[in-house]
Amino acid sequence: MKTISRLDLLNHEIREMKARELKIGFVPTMGYLHEGHSSLIDKARQENGAVVVSIFVNPKQFGPQEDLSNYPRDLTRDSSLCEKHGADLIYLPSEDVMYPEGYSTYVEVEGLSGILCGASRPGHFKGVATVVLKLFNLVSPDRAYFGLKDFQQFRVIRRMALDLNLPVEVLGCPIVREKDGLAMSSRNVYLSREQRAKAGLIHQSLKEARNLIGNGETSGERVISMMGKMISGIPDSRLDYIKICHPETLESIAEIKEKVVILVACHVGRARLIDNLTVETA
Ligand code: PAJ
Repeated sequence: MKTISRLDLLNHEIREMKARELKIGFVPTMGYLHEGHSSLIDKARQENGAVVVSIFVNPKQFGPQEDLSNYPRDLTRDSSLCEKHGADLIYLPSEDVMYPEGYSTYVEVEGLSGILCGASRPGHFKGVATVVLKLFNLVSPDRAYFGLKDFQQFRVIRRMALDLNLPVEVLGCPIVREKDGLAMSSRNVYLSREQRAKAGLIHQSLKEARNLIGNGETSGERVISMMGKMISGIPDSRLDYIKICHPETLESIAEIKEKVVILVACHVGRARLIDNLTVETA
């Protein structure tokens, strides 16, 4: 496995992969990797001749009050995880390649970017779409792998790839969870012991919502209210939103008559946790 920062060396490696007619599977990340990330690397490894992982903590997707400077980093551990899961190349883009002085070009996926997490984190998805498009241009992957934990992010990237005719297949992979159901996240390290002990309630509330809907509940309001009560049992929690949405358009749904995705975002102490579950009706 190679680790590369220089753009000319990256270009060389990508050219070699293409010359050998290898399909390139790409996993973009911000590092501090865990089993959620490695599940994407595994999938990319199964489906492609070459696997590229990028690690870049993208400043453009963090708000001014967010955790950019504290975002956890551990390149040594990340490298061994990538190696263990069979990645061929780690790309660590330098700031000057990603955002050269005078940088002024952005991608805005309208509509999808302004709701849910986009409403609470203005500019976040503009930063995500922009960096992902740049990474796609640099790596030129055949397939790119995203976790459904960041469900809205996946939808935004899919929309961008479709709208801009990007020659890459954007694939969504299942959420990897801790034993108690908490979705794995680099930000879980921010939780105190007490907060961590109860953080599984987010996933439990989603499963309880699935039970209610399975038993014929159609009122979005009642489902949301039940979930809110459960989630309030997490110490130092402040709910951002619980929404029931159409799985593709992410439009809000009041009466549950068909497949929906239920999305949660919740501040717990210093962490902002997100989770979701796609639910079929009875
Ligand atoms: P990051 O949070 O590092 O996540 C990288 C990828 O791992 C994303 O596709 C995310 O959805 C996926 N992932 C994280 N936790 C997961 C889990 N528990 N189960 C399954 N997949 C999981 O998302 C980003 O970075 C950035 O926004 C990025 C796309 C790299 C652009 O900067």
